[in-house]
Amino acid sequence: MKGIILAGGSGTRLRPLTGAVSKQILPVYDKPMIYYPLSVLMLAGIRDILVISSKDHSDSFRTLLGDGSRLGLNICYAEQDAPRGIAEALVIGADFIDGDQVALVLGDNIFHGPRFSLLLDDALRRLDGAWLFGYRVRDPQRFGIGEIDAEGRLLSLQEKPAQPRSDIAVTGLYLYDADVVGIAKNLSPSARGELEITDVNLAYLRQGRAHLTELGRGFAWLDMGTHDSLLQAAQYVQLVQERQGVWIACVEEVALNRGFITPEQCRRLGEEMAGTAYGSYLADVADRHRPLLTARAV
Ligand code: DAU
Repeated sequence: MKGIILAGGSGTRLRPLTGAVSKQILPVYDKPMIYYPLSVLMLAGIRDILVISSKDHSDSFRTLLGDGSRLGLNICYAEQDAPRGIAEALVIGADFIDGDQVALVLGDNIFHGPRFSLLLDDALRRLDGAWLFGYRVRDPQRFGIGEIDAEGRLLSLQEKPAQPRSDIAVTGLYLYDADVVGIAKNLSPSARGELEITDVNLAYLRQGRAHLTELGRGFAWLDMGTHDSLLQAAQYVQLVQERQGVWIACVEEVALNRGFITPEQCRRLGEEMAGTAYGSYLADVADRHRPLLTARAV
């Protein structure tokens, strides 16, 4: 299974914040935005990851994440020279995907909720076609929208409809089987000149192979396209971390829990940030870590 983070776009709605910096590097409380979607791929057990950004910003992502080996990952990079649609990520990433299954996540999406990694594991185990995640919203006109029947089967998909058939937004996390590159390569640009991800999903829907899991009430799904939503996301992260003492999208912790790095490696990563709350948290996480097997044996 491969993973792609799409972190391009022009970030025009966040100007002047994005005048010199990529939107997906902006801070969301205590971490760069891209940590949040990166942690989602890692939670799904994915270690081979392609980061797609605009040419102007690809160096900052390389500086931030490197080749990923510090987190037990293999991260590579590609560029999208203009925002020609989310589905273009699958064309740009065709060689990287190399006939495998792929999870595509938008670089400005936060997912946070109970048992999320179990939900991802389950979707990946049953993946045949496209697997989408839905979230009820108050303003469905702003999103891709999925309509489901009483059994949760996906009936229709609409992209930013004037008259939405439901209030279930299709979130920016898409799981696909190996057919997806062929489907993306055959798309025609939409009226706004983009390769639409909804058209990829519609192709699977027509084949009867598109599934949607609704993220329930206990979940938070946030996308950060405006100054207000960026601030709200930061406030959400700050509040939950402060209240629970458990951090959201701490990629080193996810790497440790997924067995990508050892407690010793996690501790060393914390030492590099000695004197910061983040560094202390990593030291605690490394100290507290008990592999599942040991816990069961005791
Ligand atoms: O956030 C979920 C929504 O994302 C879905 O419900 C919609 O179906 C889907 O079309 C998309 O809608 P948005 O209006 O949020 O898409 P936007 O053009 O804002 O792109 C989302 C992110 O992807 C944004 O951070 C920029 C990045 N992007 C976008 C395009 C079109 C790229 O990196 N390259 C692109 O070509």
